[in-house]
Amino acid sequence: MFLESKVSIVTGAGSGVGEATAELFAKNGSTVVLMDYNRERVERVTARLKAQNLSTESFVANLKNEDDLRELVKFTTDTFGTVDILVNNAAVMDAHTSLGNVTNELWDHVIATNLTGAFKLTREVLRIFLAKGGGVVVNVSSTAGIRGGRGGAAYTAAKHGIIGLTRNMADHYGHRGIRVNAIAPGGIKSNLRDSYGERDPEGFARNSRCSAMGPGEGEPSEIAQIALFLASPASSIVNGAVIVGDRGWTIF
Ligand SMILES: NC(=O)c1ccc[n+]([C@@H]2O[C@H](COP(=O)([O-])OP(=O)(O)OC[C@H]3O[C@@H](n4cnc5c(N)ncnc54)[C@H](O)[C@@H]3O)[C@@H](O)[C@H]2O)c1
Repeated sequence: MFLESKVSIVTGAGSGVGEATAELFAKNGSTVVLMDYNRERVERVTARLKAQNLSTESFVANLKNEDDLRELVKFTTDTFGTVDILVNNAAVMDAHTSLGNVTNELWDHVIATNLTGAFKLTREVLRIFLAKGGGVVVNVSSTAGIRGGRGGAAYTAAKHGIIGLTRNMADHYGHRGIRVNAIAPGGIKSNLRDSYGERDPEGFARNSRCSAMGPGEGEPSEIAQIALFLASPASSIVNGAVIVGDRGWTIF
């Protein structure tokens, strides 16, 4: 039990990495608020966890709606008293679209979801962390956040941005007891493919070069284990780090 009596918020907890992280956190003693904009998915996952007597609640919210994010934090503090851990996990993919083919709508959608949403939610939670002198943020980036050929322009920019946010916050708030780290997963089995329609042929052809060299997809539960380490006191010395979970895909 690494997270005994902690209160966590996990975004995008209706599927994939977020679902696995919420489950692992709850099994390690944390109360978990599972946030997702897909009501059916997040309520199904929460019911499954509740059936195991795990302390969980679902909250339907859209990362693109700032009021939703305020309500999420209010719900969590009203119901469970505080927030100790925030996992910024929810995101959408961008159809591997090369910059010349990126519409304003696609850019705004991906940046608003994957970067601005995490920024606004973290800012909301930070007030609580500062008031009590501690807290942990785990940001889920991607190998697209450390390399140029793993996604389209908007996804790559957003995932690099999340790492910048991680390092800046770690530097500015580490001395106040707040740790902020990121995970950069490689290919993971999940429903992320559902988040976009037809692939951009130009961008997908470029990205396929490295996909062909990929070591195979990982399980969401493997990324959840990294999140657990980063959320727990076992990583007390780790702040501003990016832990890559890709079976060595970005090494060669
Ligand atoms: N699957 C991969 O290969 C892979 C690789 C690298 C990084 N990642 C990252 O892992 C994280 C989790 O993705 P996943 O692979 O589990 O995908 P997923 O699609 O299975 O899960 C993402 C969840 O986020 C939710 N979501 C999307 N937009 C939202 C919004 N605006 N508001 C609230 N919820 C929203 C979805 O409903 C979904 O349940 C993401 O940050 C993704 O970029 C995934």
